[in-house]
Amino acid sequence: MQAIETARLYLRQFTSNDFDDLYAIYSDSEVMKYITQGVRNREETVADLLEIMADWEKHGFGLWAIVDRETNRLIGDGGLRFLSNTPEVEVGYVLAKAYWGKGLATEIAEASIKYGFEVLQLEKIVAVADPENTASRRVMEKVGMKYQHNFEYCDRELVYYAILKY
Ligand SMILES: CC(C)(COP(=O)(O)OP(=O)(O)OC[C@H]1O[C@@H](n2cnc3c(N)ncnc32)[C@H](O)[C@@H]1OP(=O)(O)O)[C@@H](O)C(=O)NCCC(=O)NCCS
Repeated sequence: MQAIETARLYLRQFTSNDFDDLYAIYSDSEVMKYITQGVRNREETVADLLEIMADWEKHGFGLWAIVDRETNRLIGDGGLRFLSNTPEVEVGYVLAKAYWGKGLATEIAEASIKYGFEVLQLEKIVAVADPENTASRRVMEKVGMKYQHNFEYCDRELVYYAILKY
């Protein structure tokens, strides 16, 4: 199993044992407010988890399970995956509410971008968000990503940020 460590987190591959913890996060309407498909029911969470695991099989990378090193609890997802229907790789992050506001998404984004450039040898990493998702946009800015333009996705207008290999 591939994994990386940051100061406070352990980023590892998901397993089917993560379902209950992931469902608790994906079924929270506040957490999913700005996520394109919104809250997930059990079946949708199963499909998401299978898709994340399939990404790893197919591409050798995908979203990490984000684990709090202190408690060993799964607290979210984050990392790299292909931006839907494009050859570009995006960085993303979703955390359980109790973990917001501590700089953890910034820690995830920094580690993921470093991994993307140094291990996966990517040339460019992008990120998209609802224009009103200020916390997510702030994380993008804090890790050095720059706003490029708006991006149409599923009939929604998102903001598109990018960072080039350093
Ligand atoms: C987006 C999310 C991952 C951010 O996680 P986090 O660990 O709280 O982020 P960080 O603490 O690293 O940084 C957040 C930054 O946004 C700022 N911020 C948060 N909410 C804000 C708001 N409503 N208005 C302005 N700034 C805000 C914080 O102050 C911080 O900036 P600072 O360090 O300059 O003070 C978290 O809120 C989340 O999981 N949201 C739900 C899922 C989601 O929307 N994911 C992104 C999809 S694109």
